[in-house]
Amino acid sequence: MAQEITTKQLRKWLLAYATRIIENEAQLTELDTAIGDADHGVNMRRGMDILQKRLQEKEQAEEISAFLRSVAMTLISGVGGAAGPLYGTFFLRAATSPTNGSSIDLAQLTQMFRYGLDGLQQRGKAQADDKTMIDTIQPAVEALEAAVAAQQSAAVALAAARQAAHLGMKHTIEIEARKGRASYLGPHSIGHQDPGATSAYFLFETAAEVLTITGAD
Ligand SMILES: Nc1ncnc2c1ncn2[C@@H]1O[C@H](COP(=O)(O)OP(=O)(O)OP(=O)(O)O)[C@@H](O)[C@H]1O
Ligand SMILES: [Mg+2]
Repeated sequence: MAQEITTKQLRKWLLAYATRIIENEAQLTELDTAIGDADHGVNMRRGMDILQKRLQEKEQAEEISAFLRSVAMTLISGVGGAAGPLYGTFFLRAATSPTNGSSIDLAQLTQMFRYGLDGLQQRGKAQADDKTMIDTIQPAVEALEAAVAAQQSAAVALAAARQAAHLGMKHTIEIEARKGRASYLGPHSIGHQDPGATSAYFLFETAAEVLTITGAD
C-alpha cells in the first residue's frame, strides 16, 4: 500500500513551517525592505504566532479538508497584507482536493498542492517569472507531479520539490518584478530575492523534513 500522510502529519508540517518563519522573520523583513514595504516578516510572523496557537489547541479537525480550511482562515485573518489572502487562497483551494478523509497518498498530496497553486494564480493573476511566490511554488508542484508520474517515493518526491522550490526562489534574484509593490521598482528590483518566494520556499523545505517520516504522527 502506498504510504499515507495523515492530518496529524500535516499539522506537524505546519507547526514546523510556523517555527521556520518565526526563525527567519528578520530575513523576510530585510528582503521586503529592499523591494517592498518591509512588512512581510512582520505579516508572516503575526500569522504564524496565531497559527501555532491554533494548531496547539486540543481540538483539531480530523478530516484533511476541514483542517486545511481552518489553516486557510487563520492565514487570511492573521497574516494580512497581500500574502495573507494569497496563502489563504492556496490552502482554501487545497482543501477542495480529493482525500480519503483523514489521510492522503503522495499523488493526492501532489494534487492538493496543484489545487492550491491554481487557486493562487487565479486570485493573484501572477505567472511564472513575475517574481512572486509562484516562482517557488510552481516548480515545486511540477517536480512533485514528475515524481508521481515516475512512481517515486514520498521522500524522493519531496526532496525534488524542495530542490525545485529552492532554485525557483533563487531565480527571483535575477528577474524583474511584474506583480505587487516590487513591480513599482521596475528593473531596480533585479538583484533582490523576492520575500514571498522565500516564505513559500519554507513550505517545501519543512514538507521535505516532516512529511517523509513513515508512521510518524
Ligand atoms: N499577485 C501576486 N501573486 C502572487 N504573489 C504575490 C502577488 N503580489 C504579491 N505577491 C507576493 O507577496 C509578497 C509580499 O507580501 P507582503 O506580506 O509583503 O504583502 P504586501 O506588502 O501587502 O505586498 P505587495 O504590496 O507587494 O502586494 C511578494 O514578495 C510576492 O511574493
Ligand atoms: Mg510588503
